[in-house]
Amino acid sequence: MKSRLWWKEAVVYQIYPRSFYDSNSDGEGDLPGITAKLEYVKALGVDAIWLSPFYTSPNKDGGYDVANPRDVDPRFGNLTDAKILISRAHELGLRVLADIVPNHFSDQHVWFQEALKAEPNSPARNRFHFYDARPDGTPPNNWISLFGGPAWTQTLDGQYYLHLFDSSQPDLNWESSEVNDDFEKTLRFWLDLGVDGFRIDVAHGLVKENILENHPDPQGLSNALRLDVDMDSEVRNNLLATVPFFDRQGVHEIYRRWRKLFDSYGDRDVMAVAEAWVHPPVNATRYVRADELHQVFNFDLLTAPFDGAFLFEVIDRSIELNATVGALPTWALSNHDSPRVASRIGELESRALALFVFALPGSAYVYAGQELGLPDGELHDNDRQDPSFFRSKGEIKGRDGARVPLPWTGESSPFGFSAGDPWLPMSKSWKVFTVENENSDPESVLNLYRNALALRSQHLVNTGDLIWLESAVHGAKNANLLSFRRGSITVAMNLSSQVQEIDLSGKVLVQSYGKIEIANGKLHLPALSSIWCLS
Ligand code: GLC
Ligand code: CA
Repeated sequence: MKSRLWWKEAVVYQIYPRSFYDSNSDGEGDLPGITAKLEYVKALGVDAIWLSPFYTSPNKDGGYDVANPRDVDPRFGNLTDAKILISRAHELGLRVLADIVPNHFSDQHVWFQEALKAEPNSPARNRFHFYDARPDGTPPNNWISLFGGPAWTQTLDGQYYLHLFDSSQPDLNWESSEVNDDFEKTLRFWLDLGVDGFRIDVAHGLVKENILENHPDPQGLSNALRLDVDMDSEVRNNLLATVPFFDRQGVHEIYRRWRKLFDSYGDRDVMAVAEAWVHPPVNATRYVRADELHQVFNFDLLTAPFDGAFLFEVIDRSIELNATVGALPTWALSNHDSPRVASRIGELESRALALFVFALPGSAYVYAGQELGLPDGELHDNDRQDPSFFRSKGEIKGRDGARVPLPWTGESSPFGFSAGDPWLPMSKSWKVFTVENENSDPESVLNLYRNALALRSQHLVNTGDLIWLESAVHGAKNANLLSFRRGSITVAMNLSSQVQEIDLSGKVLVQSYGKIEIANGKLHLPALSSIWCLS
C-alpha cells in the first residue's frame, strides 16, 4: 500500500536564505550556511524546508527578481552548494521546496535585455507585455504597481512594458509558448537536481485580461490590495472583485500542465503550493482541484486579529472550503512579506495561536525565526531595502523588518549569524532570542515549538476531522474561548486576559504559557494561552 502523501499534513519551515546563517563572513546568509544548520532545523520537528529564491539576481526585490532561474546567485554559493544542501536535507529526512517565480523575470534576464534591443512587436518583446504609448504619450492603461507608482515603464523607443511589481521585474507574457517551455525546463531542472516541490510565487498573477483598458478606480484597487491599508471590508471586497490581473481563469490551464509534469515524477510525490491572494475566498479552492496544485496558502491568519469570533470564522471556513475539493488547508502566521506574528499580535498571543494552529488539520508553515518568538527588527529608514519603500517614496515602510537575520548565539550583534556586518542591523535586545539562550530555557518559544511539533506527529497527524466543541462554537460569539477535538486530543485557547475555568479532563500534554491548575474538577487555563489535553 502506498504510504500517506508526505505533504498532506507536513510542517514546512520557510528559510529566507539571505537572513538564515552566513558561512563566509560577508554579512549575508548563504546555501552552505543553511546546510550547516540543517540539524537544527530537523530537530525542530519539521518535515520540509521551503527556500525563498537563491537564483542569479540583482536582488532588487530580495531575489524575487530572477535573472537566471537555473543557476545560483554567487552571494548564496553555486549549484554544487545547492546539490549538497538538498542531499544533506534528504539524509536527515527533510524534503526541500524551491520557490519558483513565474509572474516576472528581472530586467537583467537575457530575454529582457534582448527585448529592449529588439523592435516593437518582435518575438523577443512578445515574451513580455510591451505596448505602444497612448497617443498622448501616457502608458497603455492606468494600473498601479503593487509596490506603488505606475505599473508601466517606458523604454527608449517609446513603448511601455508592464510590471505589477518593481520596474526591474517585467511581467512575463504567458500567452507565449516560449515562456511556457522555459518554465517547464526550470521545473525539471530543479526536480532533476533533487527538490521535492515548489512554492509558486504570485501564482494567481500570470494571466492578465483587458490589458488595454483603464481600471475605473486604480488607486482604490491598489489600496484594497495592500494589507497595511485599513478599509471597510465590503468596499475592499467590491474592489477586489474587479482586479483584471489576478486570478483569471487562464492560470488554471497552466497549473493543469504543471501537474502533469509533477506527476510524471511518479513516486517522488512532487508537490506544489500556490501563493494566491484571491477573492472571494472560495476561489482559492480552484488552485487545489484534483488536477491542479496540491496546496494553496491561506493568508487569513497572517492578518487576523487575536479575536475568537474572527479566528473561528476564518479557520472553519478554510477547512470547509478546502473540503469541497478534497484538500486540506494550510496555515501560516508569518512569512517574509508580513510583520512577524509576535510583533503583530503580541508575545503570549502568538504562542497561544501557534499551539492552537499546530493542532489543526492540514499543513503548517513556520517562517524561520518564528520558532524563537522573534519580533520584527527595528529599522531606520536608511537601513531599508524593500523596493516598495522606495517606489512609494517612504509611504510604505516595506517588509525588511521581518527579514532581519536570525540570532544564533552570544550577547551582541550579529549574534553568531555572521562574522561580518549583518546586511540589516540586529537589535541589542535580541540576545534573549538567540537559539543558544532559548535552548537552555524550558519555557522558551523554541522549546514550545519543539514539544508541540513532536506531539503533533505523534497524536495529530492523520487523525482526521476537527470537531468544534459545543462551548467553543457558542463561545465564539463572545470570542473568549475556542476549543476543538481531534482524535484523542482536546485543544483549547483562552483569548481573554483572565484565567478561564474550563471542563477539560485528561492529561495535559503541552501548554503555550503559564501554570495549569486543576481545582474542583475544573482546569484553570491562564490568560492568553492554549493547551492540548490527551484523553
Ligand atoms: C511574492 C513574494 C514577495 C515578492 C513578490 C514579487 O509576493 O512573496 O516577496 O516581492 O511576490 O515577486
Ligand atoms: Ca555569505
